Amino acid sequence: MYRIVLLAGDGIGPEVVREARRVLEACATRHDLELEFVDELIGGISIDTHGTPLRDEVVALCRESRAVLLGAVGGPAWDDLAVDVRPEKGLLEIRKRLGLFANLRPASVIPALVEASTLRPEVVRGIDLLVVRELTGGLYFGEPKGRSEVGGVRRAVNSMVYDEDEVARISRVAFQQARLRRGHVTHVHKANVLEVSQLWMEVVEEVAKDYPDVELAHQLVDSCAMLLVKDPRRFDVIVTSNLFGDILSDEAAQIAGSLGMLPSASLASGGFGLYEPVHGSAPDIAGQDRANPLAAVLSVAMLLETSLECAAAAAQLREAVSRVLADGHRTADLLLEGEQREVVGCRAMGDLVLQKLAGQ
Ligand code: IPM
Ligand code: MG
Repeated sequence: MYRIVLLAGDGIGPEVVREARRVLEACATRHDLELEFVDELIGGISIDTHGTPLRDEVVALCRESRAVLLGAVGGPAWDDLAVDVRPEKGLLEIRKRLGLFANLRPASVIPALVEASTLRPEVVRGIDLLVVRELTGGLYFGEPKGRSEVGGVRRAVNSMVYDEDEVARISRVAFQQARLRRGHVTHVHKANVLEVSQLWMEVVEEVAKDYPDVELAHQLVDSCAMLLVKDPRRFDVIVTSNLFGDILSDEAAQIAGSLGMLPSASLASGGFGLYEPVHGSAPDIAGQDRANPLAAVLSVAMLLETSLECAAAAAQLREAVSRVLADGHRTADLLLEGEQREVVGCRAMGDLVLQKLAGQ
């Protein structure tokens, strides 16, 4: 029996997690996986209910579970709060406290959606890359940090800090992922300016010796940002620090078509993971049945594969999603400009995936 914690969060989080759960239940039944679901709060809704974006009880519950499925956090209602008490703080804290150091963000183009990218089809067709982002260190967590005022002048500081063990463990994840893919790792850095990047460069090279079958390249982060729009197909696995990974994974998401399609996994050692769609809480469309649940559904595929070790179920689910799209069904975010198609709502998209699964 596996326990799965559902942290639906804010905005469109609850509606996409609802569909993702239905799909996960269907996969579990098919593959004889016994699951127990527990709902808990994170982000703005937790602030409103309990006065804090993440309670200790929730962290403890997650520790006693196999995986966490998260929707999204944040929204305009909490925008004026200080960084330390905002909904996003709940997300950063859960990553840190559960040791979720490896963030996997695949960006690939589903053939039926090639036209949905803002780049030309010949640039986009065949994109299949994976950003491996370090998630519990670097500029997001480094000390010293904070604000001060010196002689009436406001000042703020954040620190980019990594030790070699943190770099080595994320590098290993990247090399292992590359072995399952096309055998290529690009380490993204700013070593012409930052000492931290020079350390990364050394450590990634050292770890690479254990993976002689994987090819390693180094790329400056600014030119990587450029190459991602010029020739995205050259990338297989990208490994990088927390901040660079945050930025580049959004860029990769956009070139691949819709943010509404992209899943992610945040992994600790030992198979435990938190799975969440890359898109945010989209408060402007929340509660209107207009959200695209497919990123959450594809996050379920990653959960099945990694935390429940059921690759067959994951493959079936991805196939079901591809077929629904190949049949021409689209949520609003996937429509091209001027395209005349019937728009499918969040719930109906969940139904379509369930139907395809049942028919497989
Ligand atoms: C992400 C998000 C978060 C981050 C925010 C919401 C704190 O942008 O998951 O990429 O910066 O990590
Ligand atoms: Mg981000």
